[in-house]
Order: sequence, then C-alpha cells, then structure tokens
Amino acid sequence: MEITTVGIVGCGQMGAGIAEVAAKAGFEVMICEVDDGILTSGLAKIDKSLAKAVEKGKLAEADMTDVLSRISGTVSTEDLADCDIVIEAVFEDLDVKRAVFAELDRVVKPEAILASNTSSISIAAIATATQRGDKVIGMHFFNPVPVMALVEYVPSILTSQETIDAVSALGEKLGKTGVLAKDTPGFIVNRLLVAYLLDAIRVYEQGLASREDIDNAMKLGAAHPMGPLTLSDFIGLDVIKQVAQVFFEEYGEPRYSSPPLLTRMVSAGLLGRKSGRGFYDYSKR
Ligand code: CAA
Repeated sequence: MEITTVGIVGCGQMGAGIAEVAAKAGFEVMICEVDDGILTSGLAKIDKSLAKAVEKGKLAEADMTDVLSRISGTVSTEDLADCDIVIEAVFEDLDVKRAVFAELDRVVKPEAILASNTSSISIAAIATATQRGDKVIGMHFFNPVPVMALVEYVPSILTSQETIDAVSALGEKLGKTGVLAKDTPGFIVNRLLVAYLLDAIRVYEQGLASREDIDNAMKLGAAHPMGPLTLSDFIGLDVIKQVAQVFFEEYGEPRYSSPPLLTRMVSAGLLGRKSGRGFYDYSKR
C-alpha cells in the first residue's frame, strides 16, 4: 500500500516532531489535537523548529514555506478520514490510547494503517480497541524526532506482514533506520534505557554522587550525549515514571519500581524541562 497522507493525533513534543519529519519528506500531514489552544501551540513548535533550521542554514526559507504548506491542523478526528496512516502520539495511558484507536477505527478509511508511538504499552492491548488488528502497529520514534535516526517497528500478534512492510517503507522515506521489536514492554530501547535512568536516579537519591558528577561521568566516561539526569529531564519525569510503572506491572521486578524521589518529584509537578524544573532548573533559560 502506497502512503501519501499521514495523520497524527497529538501535537506534543513527539507528534510535532513526527509531523515535521513527515512534511519534510514530502508527505501531506494532518495533525489532530483536542482543542484549538493546544493545536496552536503544537503547530508553533513546528514553526519554531523549522525557523531554527533556516537560521542555521540547514533549510532554505522557500523550503520552510513548502514544508509548512503540507501541514494542516484540526480538532476533529473526522478530518483524518482519508489518511493512509494515522500515527497516534498522545499521553502514555492505555485507556486514553484505546479510546483514540476506537475513534480512529470508526472514522478513518478501512484500508488505512493505525500506528502508535507508544514507548511502553502493549500494541495488542491497543489493537483490540479496533476491528482492524492486522493494520495496527507500533511505530516508536525518539526525541528529538528530527535528530534521532531510529524508529522501532512493533507488530503485535495480530499485525500483518503487509502492515510491517508498509511502515518500514514509510520509515525509510522519513530518513529513519528501523529495528523490529517484539510487543513487550519498552521494546528494545526503553527496556534498556529506562532501567538505566531509574538506576541513575537511585544513585543520586542515595547521595552517592552529585547530579553534575553523575551526568559528567556518563557523558565523559561512556560518551553519552547527555548524562542520565539531564536526559530524564529531557524525556519528562512523568513519562519515565509512567513507563516504569508499565514495566513493573508486567515484570514485577524491583529494578523497574519508581524510586521514591522520582515519585515525589512527579507529585510536586517537577517534570523536567517541560515544567521548568526537574533535576535541574530551566526556568531562566
Ligand atoms: N529539532 C531539530 N534539530 C535539533 C533539535 C530539535 N528539537 N535539537 C537539537 N537539534 C540539532 C541541532 O540543530 C544540532 O544540529 P547541528 O549539529 O547540525 O547544528 C544538533 O541537533 C545538536 O544540537 P545542539 O548543538 O543544540 O545540542 P547537543 O549537541 O547537546 O544535542 C541532542 C542535543 C541532539 C538532544 C543530544 O543531546 C542528544 O542526542 N541527546 C540524547 C537524546 C536521546 O537520548 N533521545 C532519546 C530519548 S528516549 C525517547 O525518546 C524514547 C522514549 O520513549 C522515552
């Protein structure tokens, strides 16, 4: 199946990034958000990111206009009806995702693929909210989407080979390298990454080293682009806690339990960069 039109549900950090990459690759993109205010601020993220690319000389101004002309926004899922694929990038909660997929299944043309950008939730559990389990698949991007070269393809037990082939071809056109992962919590990257981030938070919580030293140790000693506490702030502490909870429920292993410090920080609204404060203070940046 040939994909020309890409629908996206959710215009947060991930949805906006996927929209930008898809429009840059020449696809027509329709983004759906719950209300006009959130849609406007989501679209503004794309504008800002493209403007930065122009400023850095990575994108011509005329190309920016061209890319933006391929992106439309809506607050009505009905407007996604003709998309060849819809990629969902909403909050990491099974009930929320199932409600979105049930609605998409109702309004989007029957031959279209419905993909989820979930980072930890079972694709099978999402797929059963629809009548087209063979066309539901995980397509997991990484933040920042325009920079990170990977996409994980996650078929469930119900997904057809045709769907896997179609999203693999799409990922390639988006300039991403794909890996195929089983429908298990966290797939490949988060299964490994989140355990590491939780451990780094425990190291900090137990007072074994300062936050700066923990981050510098992994940056300079293991050549990571960001230390684990900076990366946690970047991903969002609420996201990490939510993903850890999914792992803990599935595996029951203490290493996936949320460290008390993480739980307290999320309760206090210290979510990382997006809230202005996490392990570090971003309010003055
Ligand atoms: N959009 C587009 N380009 C961006 C960008 C964005 N949001 N953020 C940074 N860039 C580009 C910059 O323009 C710059 O490009 P040039 O080198 O060509 O000028 C390049 O990326 C490097 O950026 P900076 O110099 O500003 O900053 P940096 O060197 O510190 O890099 C970073 C920033 C790319 C984010 C880097 O720190 C990094 O790779 N960090 C790790 C990110 C990571 O691990 N992401 C995965 C998170 S896990 C996840 O997403 C899965 C999940 O489900 C939780």
